[in-house]
Amino acid sequence: PAPTPGFPLPSTHSQQAYDPASDFTSKWTRADAKQIMAQSDSTVAPGVNSMSPDVTMPEIPEDFPTMNDDVWVWDTWSLTDENANQISYKGWDVIFSLVADRDAGYGFDQRHWNARIGYFFRKTNADPATDKWNYGGHVFADGASIGNTEWSGSTRLMQGNHVNVFYTATTFYDVAERNAGGGGIAPDAAIAKALGNIHADQNGVTFDGFTHTKLLEPDGEMYQNKAQNPGFAFRDPYTFEDPAHPGKTYMVFEGNTGGTRGEYECKAEDLGYQPGDPNAENLNEVNSSGAYYQTANVGLAVADNKDLTKWSFLPPILSANCVNDQTERPQIFIQNEGGKNKYYLFTISHQFTYAAGMRGPDGVYGFVGDGVRSDYQPMNNSGLALASPTDLNLPSESPERPTPSQNGRQFQAYSHYVQPGGLVQSFIDNVNGVRGGSLSPTVKINFRDGISQVDRTFGQNGLGPFGYLPTNLNVGGAGHY
Ligand code: FRU
Repeated sequence: PAPTPGFPLPSTHSQQAYDPASDFTSKWTRADAKQIMAQSDSTVAPGVNSMSPDVTMPEIPEDFPTMNDDVWVWDTWSLTDENANQISYKGWDVIFSLVADRDAGYGFDQRHWNARIGYFFRKTNADPATDKWNYGGHVFADGASIGNTEWSGSTRLMQGNHVNVFYTATTFYDVAERNAGGGGIAPDAAIAKALGNIHADQNGVTFDGFTHTKLLEPDGEMYQNKAQNPGFAFRDPYTFEDPAHPGKTYMVFEGNTGGTRGEYECKAEDLGYQPGDPNAENLNEVNSSGAYYQTANVGLAVADNKDLTKWSFLPPILSANCVNDQTERPQIFIQNEGGKNKYYLFTISHQFTYAAGMRGPDGVYGFVGDGVRSDYQPMNNSGLALASPTDLNLPSESPERPTPSQNGRQFQAYSHYVQPGGLVQSFIDNVNGVRGGSLSPTVKINFRDGISQVDRTFGQNGLGPFGYLPTNLNVGGAGHY
């Protein structure tokens, strides 16, 4: 693409695939992420969305419906198989959400310290506009999971009625901080799974018989641990099979580059500027700005046994060193383009986790390559695939403390998850000051060759039904009990 005057060119990425076990880590560079601002309109009136409509989620109405009166709902995923198909089980659609009690005396921003995995079900082919999701309660019995707080993951239907719930086992040590909203003793984090059973009858869906196994803790080498950084990220497992490597099961997850916080030094490859680019940054200046504090990566692990109880780390598939500190809820989405499988890596990130000198919105970011491990090309040249309406000319903010001069919808939605057909579900966070805790209207993005566009013909001006997580594969019959 032609450069935007005053902005650098993005890095060159071949999209070439590497052996998943090799140590090539693709870089989302500063040169890449600078394209977010290069593509943003610097002339909008303050507080008006400055991003292209192609990557902007349509506005969620302030009077959005509440999905459930008892629990706040945020990160959500469907029951899937190893190929990311969303499974209708015996005639029921099943989704899993992080939930927290609405009336327990803490606010929506304290949800992380009180998170449990809950589930909802509704009849397959229900009318998403009128049929509510039925809340089934917590998936695990109280005190049964590893850790005392359950964070995001993914759920796979296995043989018969067995399910594996992969989740983040977070352990907080300071109970007082749960109400205060953090700041206390740093939590432990492990990736865990629970093997159990799903049951369905005419009344709905239940789960039982879970056996919990701890799978991975950060090694401190490839993946930063708590001793190295109390604010480390190690979470959000998503498992899948790769048609290019039959018989193996992989997991992507959110991590940070191993090493003590503050000791990382930004490298020329993290900046990724083209030789001689007049708009390139100077490496020393980037390092003096403190950009080395932000060291997100997307981790990869491979299962060592069929039961998926033993896993080995592989090097990260993507790093965002000196660009951003969090690449959350990663997922691999495989799409056939012109007879070839293209691998899309999607991950969510925030505006407040960008490194010094960088600016971008809350939303979902995408990268495309020829394999699970490849020299990923950031979607739309920047990485940004879909975001909440934001004026990127104003400084970054956090959902807890937005200012009135910004776009009231800069935090309207988060935790975007790309489903089959490009349907993107997310949760509502803050719409013009109205806090959410419920699922957003699903939107649709069309993408090919790494270029995406919000489909404004979908639903009403691009907004589909609230909490629309349809299934695309039936298992166990249509549910005539
Ligand atoms: C994304 C996220 C996940 C984490 C969960 C904790 O919204 O930060 O990374 O598992 O929320 O609430």
